[in-house]
Amino acid sequence: MLIHLLTIHPALCYGPLEEAILGRAREKGLLDIRVVNIRDFAPGRHQITDDYPYGGGVGLVMKPEPIFLAVEHAIRQGPYREVVPPEGLTGPPPGGRPRILLMDPAGRRFDQAYARELAQEEHLIFICGRYEGVDERVRLLVTDAVSIGDYVLTGGELPALVMIDAISRMVPGVLGDQQSAQDDSFATGLLEGPSYTRPPEFRGLRVPEVLLRGDHRAIARWRRKEALRRTRRLRPDLLLTAPLTEEDRQLLAEIEAEEGA
Ligand code: ADE
Repeated sequence: MLIHLLTIHPALCYGPLEEAILGRAREKGLLDIRVVNIRDFAPGRHQITDDYPYGGGVGLVMKPEPIFLAVEHAIRQGPYREVVPPEGLTGPPPGGRPRILLMDPAGRRFDQAYARELAQEEHLIFICGRYEGVDERVRLLVTDAVSIGDYVLTGGELPALVMIDAISRMVPGVLGDQQSAQDDSFATGLLEGPSYTRPPEFRGLRVPEVLLRGDHRAIARWRRKEALRRTRRLRPDLLLTAPLTEEDRQLLAEIEAEEGA
């Protein structure tokens, strides 16, 4: 997967993309992530990327020209190579186009299903704006305006990194064990249950016996039950939409009997 991250603060982005799982996936060539400095596309000696808002108001607004040029640069490096016409890209040209994502607190809320959808794409282009905003004309390029939650950050870099992390781990091969992405909290519609490692007893706190015995059917049943228990306690709303089997309903009945309805 090819990912371009367009920003005026490239140094903010390097660390999270170079370390740990994402760093290894990039080394292996599973992810091609390119951080693009929007300022490199700003003309003039001062390479100005923002300016005062027309009509007055607080804060500066990011100028459209450097962002258009940076997006066009990114598109030319990708598999679709559709050059952006002056009036922008308003519809899907034949043969597909990259997803061009604007980080925007007013955008569509990012969640696991949205991450899964974006993980199917070949080319993602993230535009990180400053929180006061970008010139409205940039939206002509944008396929998705995305928010990571109902709070306002100082810029789009952290939201883009959060999204890239969540999307990348669903790209085949990025996680050593593909199973672990499938069992994740939210991927199954439930929260993940508890995990334990050695020692079997720590400060008087014992690991549940069933995990030590090696009866794999009993362990699978226990894990499912504890995932249901945790979801019921912390996120009961998820139980309304999670795909539950008849056995799950039996387990929930047991949990209700144990804990009280
Ligand atoms: N930019 C500032 N805050 C944001 C948020 N919550 N989500 C996406 N982009 C943002």
